Amino acid sequence: MPSELLLSLRVNGEPVRRLVPASRSLLEFLREDLDLTGSKHGCDVGDCGACTVLVDGLPRLACITLAADVEDHEVTTIEGVSPDGQLSPIQAAFDRHVAAQCGYCTPGFVMALTHLRAERPHPSEDELRTALGSNICRCTGYTKILAAAREALK
Ligand code: FES
Ligand code: FES
Repeated sequence: MPSELLLSLRVNGEPVRRLVPASRSLLEFLREDLDLTGSKHGCDVGDCGACTVLVDGLPRLACITLAADVEDHEVTTIEGVSPDGQLSPIQAAFDRHVAAQCGYCTPGFVMALTHLRAERPHPSEDELRTALGSNICRCTGYTKILAAAREALK
């Protein structure tokens, strides 16, 4: 396996072509190579959801995904959900409900809900909670996050 590879993909709708170490995680690639720091390093082992991005519209944990694995795919990060500078409906609901304290988990929750909203615009409570099952928040106790999610997906 080569130690570096020339990676081509689309990120937030834009074509990207970069030489990257073969062992580079998608999260490192986004944050350090592309300076897209919205996706967060939480646990770095796939347990917390803070690094959630969408790959071809589906949630992926960027910390345990190799950048090489998204060659020729479309990656959407938290920066891509509000391209015109306006909050997305989910972000706006988080704002209204003050659903963040430190905010470290928030991008991951927003990305998980962005996928759910696209797939199931009117989810049941069970579907909503299942969609957020891989995301951990250490601050809020989840009540306000769930309230914001219910409002955004009502
Ligand atoms: S940082 Fe990726 S799951 Fe925690
Ligand atoms: S708001 Fe701090 S971890 Fe969720």
